Amino acid sequence: VPASGLGTRLGTADPKALVALAGRPMVLRAVDGLLGSGVVDGVVVTAPPGRLAVLRGLLPPGGVVVVVDGGVDRVESVHAALRHVDEASVILVHDAARCLCPAAVVRAVVEKVRTGHDAVVPAIGVADTLKRVGPDGHVDATVDRTGLAAVQTPQGFSPEVLRAAHARAVADRLAGRGVPATDDAGLVEAIGGAVVTVPGDPRAMKITTPLDLAMAEALVTAGPVPR
Ligand code: C5P
Repeated sequence: VPASGLGTRLGTADPKALVALAGRPMVLRAVDGLLGSGVVDGVVVTAPPGRLAVLRGLLPPGGVVVVVDGGVDRVESVHAALRHVDEASVILVHDAARCLCPAAVVRAVVEKVRTGHDAVVPAIGVADTLKRVGPDGHVDATVDRTGLAAVQTPQGFSPEVLRAAHARAVADRLAGRGVPATDDAGLVEAIGGAVVTVPGDPRAMKITTPLDLAMAEALVTAGPVPR
């Protein structure tokens, strides 16, 4: 669980993962969601800068959850966490900011990896019309949204493939060829790996802005809602 972002767009004093959503820090909700899915045996969380001790104090002791320092960006944070993952048949990478992801999505991702897929992402269709817009605000083109999807986390991987993808990403960076990656499946694609999808869920939304946080709080307090 990379949780080391500052969450500048949220505009809070605390780093995003430590911001409370309906009374409970997002990172705790994310970890609870994974462990509560019944298919996750252990979690490695990367702490926001300078918050290692705070996060260790919040998370339950006992070795199921390990907290380590993150890195300067998401890739570095995931890489740092991977060093602390030992034996695993499946590795999930899950953004702390997607802390309301339903257990069914977690289970679907794990099951798909177990059927022999090296990289699995939850995906949802795009509802809006998409346009490519130039820096001056002018529309250059309308993008055909057929076949486009927004992807979420947790993303699931066979450990060898995820480690290979990260090793390449780090090597590329050192060689000055690094490209910014916003998800781990993208790193697998970059080494020629195949990525498949399972149905995502709107509740696995990434909480980024104050509006996202307000909507997520409304979801938590509303209880079950029709989709
Ligand atoms: O900033 P954004 O919301 O895209 O970050 C996605 C996830 O990556 C968040 O859970 C955030 O905490 C994490 N992240 C990280 N280390 C960084 C930057 C972001 O773990 N240096």
